[in-house]
Amino acid sequence: MKTLIRNGHVVTATDNYHADVLIVDGTIQMLGEKLLVAADQEIDATGLLVLPGGIDVHTHFDMPFGGTTSSDDFLTGTRAAAYGGTTTIVDFAIQSRGHTMQEAFETWLGKAEGKATIDYSFHMIVSEATTDRLEEMQRMIDQGITSFKMFTAYPGVFMVDDGGIFRALQRAGEIGALIAMHAENGSVIDVLVEQALARGQTEPKYHALTRPPEMEGEATHRAIVLAALAKAPLYIVHLSASQALDAVMTARDQGQAVYAETCPQYLFLSYDNYEEPEFNGAKYVMSPPLRPREHQDRLWQGLKTNDLQVVSTDHCPFCMKDQKVLGRDNFAKIPNGAPGVETRMSLIYDGAVAQHRLSLNRFVEVTATAPAKMFGMFPKKGTIAVGSDADIVLFDPSGATQWGVETAHMRVDYNPYEGRETAGTIRMVLSRGDVIVDGKQFLGRDGRGQFIKRDTFHGF
Ligand code: URP
Ligand code: ZN
Ligand code: ZN
Repeated sequence: MKTLIRNGHVVTATDNYHADVLIVDGTIQMLGEKLLVAADQEIDATGLLVLPGGIDVHTHFDMPFGGTTSSDDFLTGTRAAAYGGTTTIVDFAIQSRGHTMQEAFETWLGKAEGKATIDYSFHMIVSEATTDRLEEMQRMIDQGITSFKMFTAYPGVFMVDDGGIFRALQRAGEIGALIAMHAENGSVIDVLVEQALARGQTEPKYHALTRPPEMEGEATHRAIVLAALAKAPLYIVHLSASQALDAVMTARDQGQAVYAETCPQYLFLSYDNYEEPEFNGAKYVMSPPLRPREHQDRLWQGLKTNDLQVVSTDHCPFCMKDQKVLGRDNFAKIPNGAPGVETRMSLIYDGAVAQHRLSLNRFVEVTATAPAKMFGMFPKKGTIAVGSDADIVLFDPSGATQWGVETAHMRVDYNPYEGRETAGTIRMVLSRGDVIVDGKQFLGRDGRGQFIKRDTFHGF
């Protein structure tokens, strides 16, 4: 099957040029001006940007949490991702205590197979750093799971003590794995939560007030020191606070292999959202929580200076009606997480390119190229180049998109960006050469997404 995208404006992390793109059997075969080739299908991209498909390396589809399960599964979640211009996701398989990583991997493969409409992989959540589990990391790498998430938060569930984290970092350093760290001081947060509840402070805003930015800064710094001692690279997930960014910047300035992602919610929303009336603050209960507005400029600056390399979503939706309401009388029982897999590319294009904070190339880099490089998928994914998968977004920079729960495709009963307009419109999305989104129409087949066997971490 040959598809020719005619007369578009190709943008990668480094280049910006007019070209036709020839796709043969799902792979980009030729790039050039006015290609003299016949194709089975021609797509006119005049006036459109031809972008690499977005890569969201932090989603939670069909994830059990706090007695419920995130409301998007691998079908609805990947479909929404595709509508939003994302063609690859990396989700999280959970190794729960007393169980093996292999069991977790097979469980999560079972959740995705037959459903995922775009390509996918998993990080492995490590909830116990026993000798057996650390041995098993190599078996995961052999199967293409090359990154492992650990927590300094959620004591009793996911949190591993510093010794366990240190052991896992040492092992990761030896075998070419990357540890992705959820860095908040869970033990101190638990004390603050207990004290707030004892004072009768039960509303959603206390979720944020009991998880102060200093406790993210402290845990980020601690993880960085442990990684340095273990001689391992480290990736900080969902970085939200300037204190955490300071720790990352200091380490990077000293030459340490420390990397970090932030998420659109920390760039566009703020603590003020928790003050919305009634129980509406619950929409934004996530960990780390939204921060006061002044953190936003620091995060944008971090993206500009490459102290933050990636924008992912931490998409973890729970419906207000049956799920967030579990914490109506106790903020600590509100399931943590919010939707965002569909809005990421448009929000970041708007905040970065349309509002002149970052270049178009840098937009591509933080949303596609850097995630692919960081997690062993480049150059198959994350760029437009000969030999790469034809994961492509045709983006109209002259359009505008209105966001709201009625028009979005995520399976959740609210949208944190309700009523917001972003510059530009996603016209078409291709995954391995298949047109899966054409305007408002979804053309992708359930289960067409393929598991991506990822490479080990080689530096970045
Ligand atoms: O609130 C969040 N972030 N929920 C998802 C789990 C996690 O820690 O990423
Ligand atoms: Zn996390
Ligand atoms: Zn997460």
